[in-house]
Amino acid sequence: MAVLATYNVKGGVGKTATVVNLAHRAAVAGRGDGGRTLVFDLDPQGAASYYFRAPPKVRRRGTSLVRGKVDVLEAITPTDFPGIDLIPSDFSFRNLDVVLDGAKDPGRSLARVVQPLTKRYGHIFLDCPPSISRLSENVFGAADALLVPIIPTTLSLRALDQLDTFLSRRAAEKGLRSPLVLPFFSMVDRRKRLHRELIEDLCRAHPDILRAAVPSATSVERMGAHQGPVAAFDRRSPAVGAYADLWDEVLARLSADSSASARAVSRAQA
Ligand SMILES: Nc1ncnc2c1ncn2[C@@H]1O[C@H](COP(=O)(O)OP(=O)(O)OP(=O)(O)O)[C@@H](O)[C@H]1O
Ligand SMILES: [Mg+2]
Repeated sequence: MAVLATYNVKGGVGKTATVVNLAHRAAVAGRGDGGRTLVFDLDPQGAASYYFRAPPKVRRRGTSLVRGKVDVLEAITPTDFPGIDLIPSDFSFRNLDVVLDGAKDPGRSLARVVQPLTKRYGHIFLDCPPSISRLSENVFGAADALLVPIIPTTLSLRALDQLDTFLSRRAAEKGLRSPLVLPFFSMVDRRKRLHRELIEDLCRAHPDILRAAVPSATSVERMGAHQGPVAAFDRRSPAVGAYADLWDEVLARLSADSSASARAVSRAQA
């Protein structure tokens, strides 16, 4: 089991699309072994909640959830998609940074909320807003791995470097273990020479970038109209195969990463 967060300080790079499609893939793959998948929408924009058709009558638990004031189990709702549960976002999440800042242990609040859920779910996905903030620190504390979508532009590397610097500083200053960072290319258009060249250059400079890449695909853009993951309405889209490959590679990296395994073991023993 793993807690996976999509993260990038940059907005509009495909974080939410990744959570929705990978959660669906994980749920389909996990159906045989009974493991359910949970998506925790931490973004006040609520895009993941929209894609998963969060029922309007769900009682919103807002920031009291992250403060540990309500039972997290009460905030979970099933979705229309077999095997996928959701903790929907609500607009009060725009104040998450302030709430977390005032917490007793400001970097660990989210981990404390997510921790008990790890025994119930095969995989947990956190969908994060684009920022580097107190919420991000909490996400780094709660996640086993960060899935970092990068669009092939020269500036993308900067965001990845910023993340590496932040995590190294956090580890050095606070002695906190870093999540596994899994960058991958998103919205790739292989017809563009610039994209092909940049991918080649960036992969050479950063061998840790995953091989699986998500193409720019109209089916992903149509997720809003269909309110669901691509595989639910366009099985033949190239995006479906790309997310499946991405999921396989993420699982392989997680099982090869000793620190991620160690985190899972220490959780199981807790
Ligand atoms: N692979 C893709 N191909 C085509 N369009 C895509 C792809 N991935 C995402 N998009 C589109 O790009 C826009 C941004 O995607 P998404 O919401 O997933 O990004 P995000 O990083 O979560 O954004 P934010 O930072 O605002 O949360 C959406 O309109 C989405 O439909
Ligand atoms: Mg998003």
